[in-house]
Amino acid sequence: MLKGKTVILGVTGSIAAYKAANLASLLMKQHAKVQVIMTGNAVNFINPITFEELTGQKCLTDTFDRNFEFKVEHIALAKAADLAIVAPATANVLAKLAHGIADDMLTTTLLACTCPKLAAPAMNTRMYENPVTQDNIKQLKHYGYTVIEPAMGRLACGDIGRGKFPDEKIILDYILREVALPKDMAGKKVLITAGPTQEDIDPVRYITNHSSGKMGYALAKMAMLRGAEVTLVSGPTALTPPPFVIVVPISSARELFEAVTSRSQKQDIIIKAAAVADYRPAEVSAEKVHKKDGELSLELERTEDTLQYLGQHKKPGQLLCGFAMETSDMEERAKAKLQKKNLDLIVGNNVKVAGAGFGTDTNVVTLITKTDCSRLEIMSKEEVAMAILDKLSLILKADRTSAFAGGE
Ligand code: CTP
Repeated sequence: MLKGKTVILGVTGSIAAYKAANLASLLMKQHAKVQVIMTGNAVNFINPITFEELTGQKCLTDTFDRNFEFKVEHIALAKAADLAIVAPATANVLAKLAHGIADDMLTTTLLACTCPKLAAPAMNTRMYENPVTQDNIKQLKHYGYTVIEPAMGRLACGDIGRGKFPDEKIILDYILREVALPKDMAGKKVLITAGPTQEDIDPVRYITNHSSGKMGYALAKMAMLRGAEVTLVSGPTALTPPPFVIVVPISSARELFEAVTSRSQKQDIIIKAAAVADYRPAEVSAEKVHKKDGELSLELERTEDTLQYLGQHKKPGQLLCGFAMETSDMEERAKAKLQKKNLDLIVGNNVKVAGAGFGTDTNVVTLITKTDCSRLEIMSKEEVAMAILDKLSLILKADRTSAFAGGE
Protein backbone atom coordinates (compact mmCIF):
# COMPACT_ATOMS: atom_id res chain seq x y z
CA MET A 1 0.00 0.00 0.00
CA LEU A 2 3.04 2.31 0.21
CA LYS A 3 4.54 1.55 -3.20
CA GLY A 4 6.25 4.65 -4.57
CA LYS A 5 6.08 6.47 -1.20
CA THR A 6 9.13 7.75 0.67
CA VAL A 7 8.86 7.57 4.44
CA ILE A 8 11.33 9.27 6.78
CA LEU A 9 11.62 7.26 9.99
CA GLY A 10 13.23 9.30 12.76
CA VAL A 11 14.59 7.22 15.64
CA THR A 12 15.50 8.90 18.91
CA GLY A 13 17.19 7.80 22.14
CA SER A 14 14.50 5.84 23.91
CA ILE A 15 14.88 2.25 25.11
CA ALA A 16 12.10 1.49 22.58
CA ALA A 17 14.47 2.46 19.72
CA TYR A 18 15.06 -1.21 18.90
CA LYS A 19 11.33 -1.59 18.17
CA ALA A 20 11.71 0.92 15.33
CA ALA A 21 13.48 -1.89 13.44
CA ASN A 22 10.16 -3.78 13.35
CA LEU A 23 8.43 -0.67 12.10
CA ALA A 24 11.05 -0.23 9.35
CA SER A 25 10.50 -3.84 8.36
CA LEU A 26 6.69 -3.42 8.25
CA LEU A 27 7.12 -0.33 6.07
CA MET A 28 9.41 -2.26 3.71
CA LYS A 29 6.76 -5.00 3.45
CA GLN A 30 4.35 -2.30 2.26
CA HIS A 31 6.95 -1.42 -0.43
CA ALA A 32 7.80 2.03 0.95
CA LYS A 33 11.21 3.58 0.44
CA VAL A 34 12.33 4.03 4.04
CA GLN A 35 14.94 6.62 4.98
CA VAL A 36 16.00 6.29 8.61
CA ILE A 37 17.47 9.24 10.47
CA MET A 38 18.81 8.61 13.97
CA THR A 39 19.75 11.03 16.68
CA GLY A 40 23.13 10.76 18.36
CA ASN A 41 21.52 9.22 21.45
CA ALA A 42 19.54 6.66 19.42
CA VAL A 43 22.76 5.04 18.14
CA ASN A 44 23.54 4.10 21.75
CA PHE A 45 20.42 1.90 21.76
CA ILE A 46 20.50 0.33 18.28
CA ASN A 47 23.16 0.14 15.61
CA PRO A 48 22.44 2.07 12.38
CA ILE A 49 23.57 -1.00 10.44
CA THR A 50 20.35 -2.75 11.52
CA PHE A 51 18.31 -0.12 9.70
CA GLU A 52 20.63 -0.09 6.70
CA GLU A 53 20.21 -3.86 6.33
CA LEU A 54 16.43 -3.61 6.67
CA THR A 55 15.88 -0.64 4.36
CA GLY A 56 18.73 -0.85 1.87
CA GLN A 57 19.35 2.87 2.49
CA LYS A 58 22.15 4.67 4.26
CA CYS A 59 21.05 5.49 7.80
CA LEU A 60 21.67 9.17 8.53
CA THR A 61 22.88 10.52 11.82
CA ASP A 62 25.13 13.43 11.00
CA THR A 63 24.06 16.67 9.24
CA PHE A 64 27.58 17.19 7.93
CA ASP A 65 28.11 13.72 6.51
CA ARG A 66 29.25 14.26 2.89
CA ASN A 67 29.19 10.59 1.94
CA PHE A 68 25.61 10.71 0.74
CA GLU A 69 23.70 11.10 -2.54
CA PHE A 70 21.39 14.03 -1.64
CA LYS A 71 22.51 17.65 -2.12
CA VAL A 72 22.01 19.71 1.06
CA GLU A 73 20.68 16.49 2.54
CA HIS A 74 18.08 17.64 4.99
CA ILE A 75 16.30 19.81 2.41
CA ALA A 76 16.49 17.22 -0.37
CA LEU A 77 15.18 14.54 1.96
CA ALA A 78 12.39 16.75 3.25
CA LYS A 79 11.31 17.43 -0.34
CA ALA A 80 11.36 13.76 -1.28
CA ALA A 81 9.31 12.57 1.72
CA ASP A 82 5.63 11.65 1.47
CA LEU A 83 5.48 11.20 5.25
CA ALA A 84 7.80 11.63 8.22
CA ILE A 85 7.42 9.83 11.54
CA VAL A 86 9.48 10.02 14.70
CA ALA A 87 9.14 6.67 16.44
CA PRO A 88 10.04 6.42 19.23
CA ALA A 89 9.99 10.12 20.07
CA THR A 90 11.67 11.13 23.34
CA ALA A 91 10.51 14.03 25.53
CA ASN A 92 13.64 15.83 24.34
CA VAL A 93 12.86 15.58 20.61
CA LEU A 94 9.19 16.52 21.21
CA ALA A 95 10.40 19.67 22.99
CA LYS A 96 12.79 20.55 20.17
CA LEU A 97 10.25 19.94 17.41
CA ALA A 98 7.57 21.92 19.26
CA HIS A 99 9.88 24.94 19.38
CA GLY A 100 11.62 24.79 16.03
CA ILE A 101 15.00 23.79 17.41
CA ALA A 102 17.01 22.26 14.59
CA ASP A 103 20.38 21.10 15.86
CA ASP A 104 20.88 17.72 14.22
CA MET A 105 20.01 15.85 11.02
CA LEU A 106 16.60 14.69 12.25
CA THR A 107 15.31 18.00 13.63
CA THR A 108 16.63 20.05 10.69
CA THR A 109 15.01 17.67 8.21
CA LEU A 110 11.68 17.69 10.07
CA LEU A 111 11.69 21.47 10.19
CA ALA A 112 11.95 21.46 6.39
CA CYS A 113 9.23 18.82 5.85
CA THR A 114 5.85 19.92 4.53
CA CYS A 115 4.49 16.36 4.24
CA PRO A 116 2.29 14.80 6.96
CA LYS A 117 4.31 14.40 10.18
CA LEU A 118 3.70 11.94 13.00
CA ALA A 119 5.29 11.30 16.36
CA ALA A 120 5.02 8.23 18.59
CA PRO A 121 6.21 9.30 22.06
CA ALA A 122 7.75 6.59 24.28
CA MET A 123 9.14 7.41 27.70
CA ASN A 124 8.63 7.04 31.45
CA THR A 125 5.07 7.88 32.58
CA ARG A 126 6.22 10.76 34.79
CA MET A 127 8.10 12.32 31.88
CA TYR A 128 5.13 11.76 29.56
CA GLU A 129 2.61 13.20 32.01
CA ASN A 130 4.78 16.18 32.92
CA PRO A 131 2.86 19.34 31.92
CA VAL A 132 5.89 20.50 29.91
CA THR A 133 5.74 17.38 27.72
CA GLN A 134 1.95 17.61 27.47
CA ASP A 135 2.22 21.26 26.41
CA ASN A 136 4.81 20.35 23.81
CA ILE A 137 2.50 17.64 22.45
CA LYS A 138 -0.37 20.18 22.26
CA GLN A 139 1.94 22.55 20.45
CA LEU A 140 2.99 19.86 17.97
CA LYS A 141 -0.65 19.03 17.25
CA HIS A 142 -1.27 22.72 16.71
CA TYR A 143 1.53 22.68 14.10
CA GLY A 144 -0.17 19.78 12.32
CA TYR A 145 1.61 16.76 13.80
CA THR A 146 -0.38 13.62 14.50
CA VAL A 147 0.76 12.39 17.90
CA ILE A 148 0.09 8.72 18.57
CA GLU A 149 -0.79 8.11 22.20
CA PRO A 150 1.65 5.73 23.92
CA ALA A 151 0.31 2.46 25.33
CA MET A 152 -0.22 1.61 29.01
CA GLY A 153 1.87 -1.11 30.59
CA ARG A 154 5.04 -2.03 32.39
CA LEU A 155 7.85 0.27 31.34
CA ALA A 156 11.56 -0.53 31.10
CA CYS A 157 12.18 1.29 34.41
CA GLY A 158 9.70 -1.02 36.16
CA ASP A 159 6.96 1.61 36.54
CA ILE A 160 3.48 0.80 35.30
CA GLY A 161 1.64 3.47 33.36
CA ARG A 162 1.30 5.26 30.02
CA GLY A 163 4.48 5.70 28.01
CA LYS A 164 5.05 2.40 26.22
CA PHE A 165 5.84 2.37 22.51
CA PRO A 166 2.60 1.24 20.83
CA ASP A 167 2.44 -1.96 18.82
CA GLU A 168 4.26 -1.30 15.53
CA LYS A 169 1.19 -2.49 13.59
CA ILE A 170 -0.84 0.29 15.19
CA ILE A 171 1.79 2.82 14.11
CA LEU A 172 1.66 1.36 10.59
CA ASP A 173 -2.14 1.85 10.61
CA TYR A 174 -1.63 5.56 11.33
CA ILE A 175 0.88 5.81 8.50
CA LEU A 176 -1.40 3.99 6.04
CA ARG A 177 -4.35 6.20 6.99
CA GLU A 178 -2.23 9.24 6.25
CA VAL A 179 -0.76 8.34 2.86
CA ALA A 180 -1.85 4.96 1.47
CA LEU A 181 -4.67 6.28 -0.72
CA PRO A 182 -5.82 9.65 -2.07
CA LYS A 183 -8.48 11.18 0.19
CA ASP A 184 -11.26 11.44 -2.39
CA MET A 185 -13.92 10.50 0.20
CA ALA A 186 -12.85 13.06 2.81
CA GLY A 187 -15.85 14.64 4.52
CA LYS A 188 -18.18 11.79 3.50
CA LYS A 189 -20.03 9.75 6.10
CA VAL A 190 -20.25 6.12 5.05
CA LEU A 191 -22.16 3.39 6.88
CA ILE A 192 -21.35 -0.21 5.99
CA THR A 193 -23.05 -3.36 7.25
CA ALA A 194 -21.14 -6.63 7.32
CA GLY A 195 -21.31 -10.24 8.41
CA PRO A 196 -24.21 -12.54 9.20
CA THR A 197 -27.13 -12.13 11.57
CA GLN A 198 -28.12 -14.65 14.23
CA GLU A 199 -31.80 -15.30 14.98
CA ASP A 200 -32.36 -17.01 18.30
CA ILE A 201 -34.41 -20.19 18.57
CA ASP A 202 -33.72 -20.70 22.27
CA PRO A 203 -30.89 -19.77 24.67
CA VAL A 204 -28.49 -22.22 22.99
CA ARG A 205 -29.41 -22.21 19.30
CA TYR A 206 -29.83 -19.76 16.47
CA ILE A 207 -30.36 -19.54 12.71
CA THR A 208 -27.54 -17.94 10.74
CA ASN A 209 -25.70 -18.10 7.39
CA HIS A 210 -22.16 -18.54 6.03
CA SER A 211 -21.22 -14.86 5.75
CA SER A 212 -17.65 -14.21 6.97
CA GLY A 213 -17.91 -10.41 6.88
CA LYS A 214 -14.76 -10.12 4.73
CA MET A 215 -16.41 -8.08 1.95
CA GLY A 216 -17.95 -5.54 4.35
CA TYR A 217 -14.74 -5.23 6.38
CA ALA A 218 -12.72 -4.66 3.18
CA LEU A 219 -15.18 -1.91 2.20
CA ALA A 220 -14.85 -0.29 5.63
CA LYS A 221 -11.04 -0.37 5.45
CA MET A 222 -10.84 1.09 1.95
CA ALA A 223 -13.44 3.81 2.64
CA MET A 224 -11.49 4.77 5.79
CA LEU A 225 -8.21 4.91 3.83
CA ARG A 226 -9.95 7.14 1.25
CA GLY A 227 -10.75 9.60 4.03
CA ALA A 228 -14.41 8.75 4.78
CA GLU A 229 -15.85 8.76 8.28
CA VAL A 230 -16.88 5.12 8.49
CA THR A 231 -19.43 3.37 10.71
CA LEU A 232 -19.31 -0.42 10.50
CA VAL A 233 -22.45 -2.20 11.70
CA SER A 234 -21.27 -5.75 12.07
CA GLY A 235 -22.83 -9.09 12.81
CA PRO A 236 -20.68 -11.65 14.68
CA THR A 237 -17.47 -12.39 12.73
CA ALA A 238 -14.00 -13.71 13.46
CA LEU A 239 -12.39 -10.60 11.93
CA THR A 240 -10.56 -7.70 13.55
CA PRO A 241 -12.30 -4.49 12.51
CA PRO A 242 -10.20 -2.00 10.55
CA PRO A 243 -8.73 0.84 12.63
CA PHE A 244 -10.28 4.31 12.79
CA VAL A 245 -13.83 3.13 12.10
CA ILE A 246 -16.78 3.29 14.49
CA VAL A 247 -17.89 -0.30 15.11
CA VAL A 248 -21.48 -1.06 16.11
CA PRO A 249 -21.88 -4.75 16.96
CA ILE A 250 -25.28 -6.37 16.31
CA SER A 251 -26.58 -9.95 16.29
CA SER A 252 -30.09 -10.08 14.88
CA ALA A 253 -31.85 -8.56 11.87
CA ARG A 254 -33.91 -6.45 14.30
CA GLU A 255 -30.78 -5.06 15.97
CA LEU A 256 -29.29 -4.35 12.54
CA PHE A 257 -32.45 -2.50 11.52
CA GLU A 258 -32.30 -0.34 14.64
CA ALA A 259 -28.55 0.31 14.41
CA VAL A 260 -28.78 1.34 10.75
CA THR A 261 -32.03 3.30 10.69
CA SER A 262 -31.11 5.31 13.80
CA ARG A 263 -27.96 6.50 11.97
CA SER A 264 -29.10 6.55 8.35
CA GLN A 265 -30.16 10.19 8.07
CA LYS A 266 -26.60 11.37 8.84
CA GLN A 267 -24.98 9.21 6.15
CA ASP A 268 -23.92 10.20 2.64
CA ILE A 269 -23.48 6.60 1.54
CA ILE A 270 -24.89 3.34 2.96
CA ILE A 271 -23.52 0.01 1.75
CA LYS A 272 -25.40 -3.09 2.86
CA ALA A 273 -22.95 -5.97 2.58
CA ALA A 274 -24.43 -7.87 5.56
CA ALA A 275 -26.18 -11.17 4.91
CA VAL A 276 -29.39 -10.47 6.80
CA ALA A 277 -31.82 -13.22 7.76
CA ASP A 278 -35.14 -12.88 5.95
CA TYR A 279 -36.93 -14.98 8.58
CA ARG A 280 -36.62 -15.51 12.34
CA PRO A 281 -38.40 -17.89 14.74
CA ALA A 282 -41.84 -16.43 15.47
CA GLU A 283 -41.26 -17.24 19.13
CA VAL A 284 -37.98 -17.52 21.00
CA SER A 285 -38.18 -20.18 23.67
CA ALA A 286 -37.01 -18.95 27.07
CA GLU A 287 -35.84 -22.48 27.91
CA LYS A 288 -33.78 -24.91 25.89
CA VAL A 289 -36.00 -26.84 23.48
CA HIS A 290 -35.56 -30.54 24.37
CA LYS A 291 -35.95 -33.23 21.78
CA LYS A 292 -39.05 -35.40 21.59
CA ASP A 293 -40.02 -38.31 19.37
CA GLY A 294 -41.07 -37.32 15.87
CA GLU A 295 -40.48 -34.22 13.77
CA LEU A 296 -40.13 -30.64 14.94
CA SER A 297 -41.42 -27.63 12.99
CA LEU A 298 -40.36 -24.10 13.66
CA GLU A 299 -42.68 -21.28 12.74
CA LEU A 300 -40.77 -18.44 11.13
CA GLU A 301 -41.81 -14.84 10.64
CA ARG A 302 -40.38 -12.20 8.30
CA THR A 303 -37.64 -9.89 9.59
CA GLU A 304 -37.48 -6.18 8.86
CA ASP A 305 -35.99 -5.48 5.41
CA THR A 306 -33.58 -2.70 6.33
CA LEU A 307 -32.52 -1.91 2.78
CA GLN A 308 -36.10 -1.66 1.57
CA TYR A 309 -36.83 0.76 4.42
CA LEU A 310 -33.73 2.83 3.57
CA GLY A 311 -34.82 3.02 -0.08
CA GLN A 312 -38.22 4.32 1.01
CA HIS A 313 -36.69 6.94 3.32
CA LYS A 314 -33.67 7.98 1.26
CA LYS A 315 -32.65 11.58 1.90
CA PRO A 316 -31.78 13.75 -1.13
CA GLY A 317 -28.25 13.13 -2.41
CA GLN A 318 -27.80 9.96 -0.34
CA LEU A 319 -26.46 6.86 -2.12
CA LEU A 320 -27.65 3.35 -1.33
CA CYS A 321 -25.74 0.27 -2.32
CA GLY A 322 -27.04 -3.27 -1.81
CA PHE A 323 -25.68 -6.74 -2.44
CA ALA A 324 -27.42 -9.57 -4.23
CA MET A 325 -25.87 -12.93 -3.57
CA GLU A 326 -27.59 -15.40 -5.84
CA THR A 327 -27.30 -18.97 -7.06
CA SER A 328 -29.08 -18.44 -10.42
CA ASP A 329 -30.34 -15.63 -12.72
CA MET A 330 -28.04 -13.26 -10.84
CA GLU A 331 -28.30 -10.22 -13.12
CA GLU A 332 -32.10 -10.29 -13.48
CA ARG A 333 -32.59 -10.78 -9.75
CA ALA A 334 -30.06 -8.09 -8.88
CA LYS A 335 -31.68 -5.61 -11.30
CA ALA A 336 -35.11 -6.35 -9.78
CA LYS A 337 -33.73 -5.67 -6.26
CA LEU A 338 -32.09 -2.42 -7.45
CA GLN A 339 -35.48 -1.27 -8.71
CA LYS A 340 -37.60 -2.60 -5.84
CA LYS A 341 -35.37 -1.25 -3.06
CA ASN A 342 -34.70 2.12 -4.79
CA LEU A 343 -30.91 1.60 -4.87
CA ASP A 344 -28.20 3.48 -6.73
CA LEU A 345 -25.91 0.49 -7.02
CA ILE A 346 -26.24 -3.23 -6.49
CA VAL A 347 -23.31 -5.62 -6.30
CA GLY A 348 -24.37 -8.97 -7.70
CA ASN A 349 -22.50 -12.21 -7.37
CA ASN A 350 -23.22 -15.86 -7.96
CA VAL A 351 -22.00 -17.96 -5.01
CA LYS A 352 -21.65 -20.96 -7.31
CA VAL A 353 -18.90 -19.26 -9.35
CA ALA A 354 -15.36 -20.29 -8.30
CA GLY A 355 -13.69 -17.53 -6.28
CA ALA A 356 -16.97 -15.77 -5.41
CA GLY A 357 -19.02 -15.88 -2.26
CA PHE A 358 -18.64 -16.57 1.44
CA GLY A 359 -15.36 -17.03 3.28
CA THR A 360 -13.06 -16.58 0.26
CA ASP A 361 -10.56 -13.70 -0.03
CA THR A 362 -11.68 -13.13 -3.61
CA ASN A 363 -14.95 -12.23 -5.26
CA VAL A 364 -16.41 -12.14 -8.77
CA VAL A 365 -19.01 -9.39 -8.96
CA THR A 366 -21.15 -7.44 -11.35
CA LEU A 367 -21.81 -3.78 -10.55
CA ILE A 368 -25.29 -2.75 -11.66
CA THR A 369 -26.60 0.82 -11.62
CA LYS A 370 -29.78 2.27 -13.11
CA THR A 371 -27.88 2.90 -16.33
CA ASP A 372 -25.09 0.34 -16.64
CA CYS A 373 -23.80 -3.09 -15.79
CA SER A 374 -20.08 -3.90 -15.40
CA ARG A 375 -18.95 -7.48 -15.02
CA LEU A 376 -15.63 -7.56 -13.14
CA GLU A 377 -12.98 -10.27 -13.26
CA ILE A 378 -12.07 -12.33 -10.20
CA MET A 379 -10.20 -10.06 -7.77
CA SER A 380 -9.39 -9.73 -4.08
CA LYS A 381 -12.17 -8.43 -1.84
CA GLU A 382 -10.08 -5.29 -1.23
CA GLU A 383 -9.92 -4.68 -5.00
CA VAL A 384 -13.67 -5.29 -5.27
CA ALA A 385 -14.17 -2.81 -2.42
CA MET A 386 -12.13 -0.21 -4.33
CA ALA A 387 -14.18 -0.82 -7.50
CA ILE A 388 -17.45 -0.38 -5.55
CA LEU A 389 -16.21 2.85 -3.94
CA ASP A 390 -14.97 4.13 -7.33
CA LYS A 391 -18.41 3.49 -8.78
CA LEU A 392 -20.17 5.24 -5.89
CA SER A 393 -17.79 8.23 -6.18
CA LEU A 394 -18.61 8.45 -9.90
CA ILE A 395 -22.36 8.39 -9.20
CA LEU A 396 -21.91 11.10 -6.54
CA LYS A 397 -19.96 13.26 -9.01
CA ALA A 398 -22.55 12.73 -11.77
CA ASP A 399 -25.38 13.63 -9.33
CA ARG A 400 -23.55 16.82 -8.32
CA THR A 401 -22.94 17.77 -11.96
CA SER A 402 -26.59 17.25 -12.91
CA ALA A 403 -27.80 19.13 -9.81
CA PHE A 404 -25.50 22.02 -10.81
CA ALA A 405 -26.73 21.93 -14.45
CA GLY A 406 -30.35 21.89 -13.14
CA GLY A 407 -29.61 24.88 -10.88
CA GLU A 408 -28.38 26.90 -13.84
N1 CTP B 1 -31.32 -6.95 3.20
C1 CTP B 1 -31.73 -6.19 4.30
N2 CTP B 1 -32.62 -6.69 5.17
C2 CTP B 1 -33.14 -7.93 5.01
C3 CTP B 1 -32.73 -8.71 3.90
C4 CTP B 1 -31.82 -8.19 3.03
O1 CTP B 1 -31.27 -5.06 4.44
N3 CTP B 1 -34.02 -8.39 5.90
C5 CTP B 1 -30.35 -6.37 2.27
C6 CTP B 1 -29.03 -7.14 2.22
O2 CTP B 1 -28.09 -6.60 3.13
C7 CTP B 1 -28.59 -6.96 0.77
C8 CTP B 1 -29.89 -6.79 0.01
O3 CTP B 1 -30.89 -6.46 0.98
O4 CTP B 1 -27.84 -5.78 0.59
C9 CTP B 1 -30.32 -7.98 -0.77
O5 CTP B 1 -30.40 -9.11 0.07
P1 CTP B 1 -30.85 -10.50 -0.48
O6 CTP B 1 -30.90 -11.47 0.66
O7 CTP B 1 -30.03 -10.87 -1.68
O8 CTP B 1 -32.28 -10.18 -1.05
P2 CTP B 1 -33.67 -10.22 -0.43
O9 CTP B 1 -34.25 -8.87 -0.51
O10 CTP B 1 -33.64 -10.87 0.89
O11 CTP B 1 -34.46 -11.12 -1.50
P3 CTP B 1 -34.43 -12.74 -1.76
O12 CTP B 1 -34.55 -13.37 -0.42
O13 CTP B 1 -35.59 -12.95 -2.63
O14 CTP B 1 -33.15 -13.04 -2.45
